[in-house]
Amino acid sequence: MPIINRIAAFHAEMTEWRHDLHAHPELALQETRTSAVVQQKLKEFGVDEVITGLARTGVIGVIRGRGGSDRAIGLRADMDALPIHEETGVPYASENPGVMHACGHDGHTTMLLGAAKYLAETRNFDGTVYVIFQPAEENLAGGEIMVKEGLFQRCPMEMVFGLHNWPQLPAGTFGWRHGPIMAAVANIEITVTGKGAHGALPHHGVDPIVVAAQIVSALQSIVARNIEPVEGGVVTIGHINGGHTYNVIPETVHMKGTARWFRPEVGDQLEDGVRRLATGIAASFGARAEVVFDRAYPATVNDPDATDLTIKAATTVAGSERVRHMGKPTMGGEDFSFMLNAKQGSYIMLGAGRGKGDAMVHHPAYDFNDEILPVGASYWASLVEQLLPAK
Ligand code: NI
Repeated sequence: MPIINRIAAFHAEMTEWRHDLHAHPELALQETRTSAVVQQKLKEFGVDEVITGLARTGVIGVIRGRGGSDRAIGLRADMDALPIHEETGVPYASENPGVMHACGHDGHTTMLLGAAKYLAETRNFDGTVYVIFQPAEENLAGGEIMVKEGLFQRCPMEMVFGLHNWPQLPAGTFGWRHGPIMAAVANIEITVTGKGAHGALPHHGVDPIVVAAQIVSALQSIVARNIEPVEGGVVTIGHINGGHTYNVIPETVHMKGTARWFRPEVGDQLEDGVRRLATGIAASFGARAEVVFDRAYPATVNDPDATDLTIKAATTVAGSERVRHMGKPTMGGEDFSFMLNAKQGSYIMLGAGRGKGDAMVHHPAYDFNDEILPVGASYWASLVEQLLPAK
């Protein structure tokens, strides 16, 4: 059985929902319109309960199957957009300048709505399904907020599942992985303070730009020389700001960057390395460095048994030749990690590629591939019908 027929029948309707969400993107924790649209649709579908108020704009639909089983699972989609100016040229492009659904969360929300519509209509399962629409996947950890505000106490469930579209995999294929699939993320800030001086009289000051340059180069030695070569790790400085003209040595230089890793021990080594090098190098030049190493998201680590269940559901929908091992994990971050740290579960990639030259997520030319809407919705529905079988 490939795509569920009943879901294929409302592909056009799902496409309309997706285009409407795409035209009205909202940034993290500001998803009020999106949240209202989701709530309204869940009510139209006749779900048993709509829970709101978690993580400000979060929505959970409760759908009870036939029979009296007290078993339950959760399916999670994200709703937020990115601060990117859209360059797709599509007729349903963002009407909110500078904000764009560049990661396909419009598609994720639509696929879970499609599954909710089907599940509420057919109820061909025994137990409870929680369809979780979370805000703020990007940067503000809406997933963590939902967990902290009692998601799993309010909605007791055995397992929780997530999905992300992936333009680098062909449309309609699935990519799974046991263990780590996405990296842990830390935001780095380094402020180097020297002593300002005339640009022609450097001996009167301590030049923080020269110090910052040494630090940027030295930070690359952490992954190259301190981390075991077979481990994954990244340190990137993405922003450097100091001074304003030709002939003045400024007082301070400010830098921002990101660190990525999988194993917690590697995260500790990266943090230690960034602090040691930045403060040590600054001190050796007679300057001072303040370091912030803010651990934002943990690694997304899939439970093997839960992953096997997702492989089975994906295979039902796409066929075994289109369900592939991901090989390597990616260094991208994902706040579904907070849900997986609190609850057994797994996160799968759904291929969205149309062919050569696809824009990757977070690119201004990226657009979610509507072809895969019924694939994702059928995957969710199959997962429910297989995990909570009707008697
Ligand atoms: Ni995303």
